[in-house]
Amino acid sequence: MAMSDRGTWGSRFGFVLAASGSAVGLGNIWGFPTKVGQNGGGAFVLVYLACVIFICLPILIAELAIGRRTSSDPVGAYSKLRPGTRWWMAGGLGVAAGFGVLSFYSVIAGWALAYIWFTAIGTVSSDALESAAFFTEFTGRAPINLLLTFVMLASTAGVLLGGIRSGIERVSKLLMPVLALLLIILAIRAVTLPGAAEGLAYYLKPDFSKALNFGTLNAALGQAFFSLSLGLGTMLVYGSYLTKREGIARAAIMVVAVDTSLALLAGFMIFPSGFSIPGFDPSATGPGLIFIVLPQLFATLPGGQFFGATFFILLTVAALTSAISLLEVPVAHLIDSHGWKRTRAVLIVMIATFALAIPSALANGASDFFTHLPVIGLDFLTVMITVWNDFALPMGGLFTAVFVGYVWRIDNALEELLAEQAWFPGRQLWGMLIRYACPAAIFLIIFGTLRGMIT
Ligand code: PFF
Repeated sequence: MAMSDRGTWGSRFGFVLAASGSAVGLGNIWGFPTKVGQNGGGAFVLVYLACVIFICLPILIAELAIGRRTSSDPVGAYSKLRPGTRWWMAGGLGVAAGFGVLSFYSVIAGWALAYIWFTAIGTVSSDALESAAFFTEFTGRAPINLLLTFVMLASTAGVLLGGIRSGIERVSKLLMPVLALLLIILAIRAVTLPGAAEGLAYYLKPDFSKALNFGTLNAALGQAFFSLSLGLGTMLVYGSYLTKREGIARAAIMVVAVDTSLALLAGFMIFPSGFSIPGFDPSATGPGLIFIVLPQLFATLPGGQFFGATFFILLTVAALTSAISLLEVPVAHLIDSHGWKRTRAVLIVMIATFALAIPSALANGASDFFTHLPVIGLDFLTVMITVWNDFALPMGGLFTAVFVGYVWRIDNALEELLAEQAWFPGRQLWGMLIRYACPAAIFLIIFGTLRGMIT
């Protein structure tokens, strides 16, 4: 696509909104509390925050700089900056990850869609065991899960076909503040429930004996990348539509602040409500956590059916704005680097993603094979989440940091970042983090986890 056809965001506000629309999604409300629950509570939260500030924020700035400099899809961007080398493969990993992440993302988004209906008509019981049994029964049914996954993917494709900017940007602008407000209301309700103190303690009091192992560090790192839509080129593509007038550092900080606040807020909603239920064990629930706990929170509210349905509508929309940015990565690649027409690219990527999503949709009881994979014994959905979030995205971030730190080089990146006297305090610190801290930390965490898995 010629440069002039690509278009740019209307303002920094437009960019921050679109990038936040990509960042805020299932990762904040479903992924974050789930990972906190699986990894021992408060200490995980601290490790997560450290990953966000010291690893992800510098890499977000780097991705945006590459994108704006090259105005390309990830593969095109790396080849433009270092033609004739194999660096394009770092972009290629991102394109593959966009496809892989979307395949399981659409399955969970399908659950959110179904829960709009379930909460609206009040089918989910306020009883803990019944709510859990309902979730297990629902996710174990093949036809409905396949249909929901398909509906989410087809809606994502539909929006991309019709043009993203005006539609999705406008929707996000309107709905994101409503989502934040609803989260605040629900969190206030949750912390005033009987038994909430125990949940707050679990969430806020770090117990480092549980968090300082490679598995937990890896989960926090992967979750931070996932939540900020980093490591697969989404932010690179979004940065490619930024104009020189907008300071990248300031925009990046805003996106990180919005995304992280919403994730933290989700924890304030889930853990106090969970612990208000006798016998609640956050580590045992897994991916069903929010779908099992939240209906019980709604059951304690006057007008709970209304609040519940509204909440799941917003969650579905938040998932849609993220899914769009995921699908856009392989689509932009086929258009920019292979000259495909948008319609063809969108339809083919959507169908291929659906094919890859089928085993994830069947991995919760609908198919024995995909629920207990041979040899590893895990379900296919968990394997996909681990492979893409915990490994592929941080690897993508590692490549970005090494590329900017040593190949494209810090001074060239800074030229882009400081264009038109942009605000960028701590630029030296940024250079050091990109060159030393980010690659070392990501490498150590990934390597340590792999070693732990093998031995
Ligand atoms: N950030 C999204 C979320 O938290 O739900 C998920 C996501 C979107 C991950 C786009 C990666 C990505 F490129």
